Amino acid sequence: MSNLIAPSVLAADFANLQRDIEMVNNSDADWFHIDVMDGVFVPNISFGMPVISAIKKHAKKTMDVHLMIVNPDQYISTFKNIGADILTVHYEACTHLHRTLQAIKAAGMKAGVALNPHTPVAVLEDVIKDIDMVCIMSVNPGFGGQSFIENTYKKVQQLKNLIEFSGADTLIEIDGGVTDKNANELIEAGANVLVAGSYVFGAEDPTSTIAELKALIN
Ligand code: DX5
Ligand code: ZN
Repeated sequence: MSNLIAPSVLAADFANLQRDIEMVNNSDADWFHIDVMDGVFVPNISFGMPVISAIKKHAKKTMDVHLMIVNPDQYISTFKNIGADILTVHYEACTHLHRTLQAIKAAGMKAGVALNPHTPVAVLEDVIKDIDMVCIMSVNPGFGGQSFIENTYKKVQQLKNLIEFSGADTLIEIDGGVTDKNANELIEAGANVLVAGSYVFGAEDPTSTIAELKALIN
């Protein structure tokens, strides 16, 4: 499988959302990465259901929804109904993670788990086979445009080892501060999906920036 690029809609121009969605549709990007923040789990509020439904109307690629919210279980069927294909919850927000993962899959979505920068990969040892994708946060969640945390490379390698050792086929996604400067090293460490927000939407030509990033990692 080729390595994937998931532009983060958080960095799009919300006053020109349809234009930016079409840009991603017509680019070499693979997924839409959609960040939901509740102002409780993270110190910021992004957008909710009506905006995601609006994105879904135009999006022609996989909807990768990253929930930075407490009590994600409460909204699993809602996110399915508004178009999520992959639903990622935070390890730190789930008391009964195994149950949450089963509920996401039972609702017909791929199940992802995100780890904050301080959370070791080893906490997933007993559920790794139940996880379709692990999202390693390479910044503290809550904001776009932060600097990449270098310790991420080590975590990707550890996660890759855990996945191989367990015979799981879990994807590894990296979220936060991804640019052309760290993309290759992340892929070499074992990553499969790179989320890029400000690097893509802050570029003068987002379409070619996506194409260059995609070519760099494949
Ligand atoms: C951070 C979000 C990220 C963010 C990435 O909490 O989960 O998806 O949009 O943005 P950049 O690529 O600008 O770090
Ligand atoms: Zn995200």
